[in-house]
Amino acid sequence: MLRHEVIIVGGGLAGLRAAIELCDKYDVALISKVYPLRSHSVAAQGGINAALGNNPEGRDDSWEKHMFDTVKGSDFLADQNAVEIMCKDAPRAIYELEHWGCPFSRFPDGSIAQRPFGGAGFPRTCYSADLTGHVLLHTLFERAISKRLKVYSEWYVLSLVSDGSMCHGIVAFDLIRGEIVPILAKATLFATGGYGRVYYYSTNALINTGSGIGIAYKAGVPLKDMEFVQFHPTGLVGTNILMTEACRGEGGYLINRLGERFMERYAPKAMELAPRDIVSRSIQREIEEGRGFDHPLGKCVHLDLRHLGEKKIMERLPGIRRICLDFLGIDPVYEPIPVMPCQHYSMGGIDTNEKAETPLSGFFAAGECACVSVHGANRLGGNSLLETVVFGRIASHSIEAYLSERDVKPDEKLLEEERKKVEKKIERLTGGGKEKPAKIQLELSKIMSQYVGIFRTKDELEFALGKILEAKERYRSVGISSKKKHMNYELMSALELEFMLEVAHTIALGAYLREESRGAHFRRDKEERDDSKWLKHTVMTIDREGNPSVSYKDVVITRYPPEERAY
Ligand code: FUM
Repeated sequence: MLRHEVIIVGGGLAGLRAAIELCDKYDVALISKVYPLRSHSVAAQGGINAALGNNPEGRDDSWEKHMFDTVKGSDFLADQNAVEIMCKDAPRAIYELEHWGCPFSRFPDGSIAQRPFGGAGFPRTCYSADLTGHVLLHTLFERAISKRLKVYSEWYVLSLVSDGSMCHGIVAFDLIRGEIVPILAKATLFATGGYGRVYYYSTNALINTGSGIGIAYKAGVPLKDMEFVQFHPTGLVGTNILMTEACRGEGGYLINRLGERFMERYAPKAMELAPRDIVSRSIQREIEEGRGFDHPLGKCVHLDLRHLGEKKIMERLPGIRRICLDFLGIDPVYEPIPVMPCQHYSMGGIDTNEKAETPLSGFFAAGECACVSVHGANRLGGNSLLETVVFGRIASHSIEAYLSERDVKPDEKLLEEERKKVEKKIERLTGGGKEKPAKIQLELSKIMSQYVGIFRTKDELEFALGKILEAKERYRSVGISSKKKHMNYELMSALELEFMLEVAHTIALGAYLREESRGAHFRRDKEERDDSKWLKHTVMTIDREGNPSVSYKDVVITRYPPEERAY
């Protein structure tokens, strides 16, 4: 058994930001399924929002305007106390990153460059070309390492140990040694990222299986607003690789088969820079109504950057050009990019408050795995990187307060019992069952993309729920081919699948029950937002039989009462 005062699970931006603050004061260990520099944060491209007012077009920007855009973007489901904290703290967070050496792109006067992004009234997205996540992750990792943070790489968390009211640590899988290891901790923070791989079409890395969310749920921690799934408008067709919103922020057009800039029909003012839910639905409609292109790799529309010219593309979007050349053999300087919407982000997640606290004492969550909620029903581009650094830091302060206010005594016996349960589960998975995890996962992800996607109906959601329950039943007969534990990725996938199934179940059920359309949740059979019945968060906990038990809670509204959302 290992012992640390604080365990952080997840080596992306939220986890590292929390660790930097905590490791001066406590014995902290960071557990990561991959080497932290391979965390999915590295894939973020377009930028991070803060009302700095550096762009000549954005001199009048303020945290209040950032807050209003975020609340409106969220279709008024975000908790406004939390949004206020995030938007107020954003400039401080950016200058902190700058002082830690983050190489932001610059305006000629030397100030941090800011570009327009979707749903934003002012150009407030700070960036580093189209590699913003990459530079932020390196900045935070270097800082964490310089503080001698203890990192367990290639360790996968399997279980959160709870006595029903307090968290005692985790049980983890050391993939390199092939050992199951209980880790006792006074405080545990999950910063485990999203669940994109529950969907077939996703911009997310293969590691984004939603395990952290599923593990917390199975340990009795509530999940919030799981039905709100973000679809990014522009995934590269056939590969689902993100074609950053910055392409449109820098002036790129979306074009259909008739040569029209079709966003004029759906968001005449904001055009291509409407929020993602609206742009994704617009693209999907163009395709469904026969105005898309039939690319050999799939139906799509075109993202046209040609008019930006080679110089601007090479300066602001070099990664996009490289990806297009490497994966489709096309050069966006001369050819339009074929794109389609793909799952991109989870607005829902582990139910946390504005202090990153969960209802389970000693257990905290931050970043994409958490639902604070600052994004409500639809996140604005550039706010997720911001959320990671703001709430990663807040989580560290809450952990410090938690540890300083009480004498926490985690229970070794509970961890030992949990380790045995996990060993039993692994014995069952390696015991020769006939179902293959990869097959169930593939089928699950196709069901989610087809029936719990951009457009939803009651009947389709009911069908998806039936299929998910069937898959859960089949999971009981999963068997993998090798009993070895050392770097056994089939075993890890089988373990992950259990949590993916739970995550999928909560998404589909939340979507089935929410009989309205709000943000990224669009019901063809209930096309209007219904504030009289549905201005509330969905909360799900697992019951004794392993089924979701659903309740609702009020949205925190402080400054901006709900209004019509037009762009
Ligand atoms: O399009 C993008 O660059 C993605 C940004 C985000 O998800 O915030």
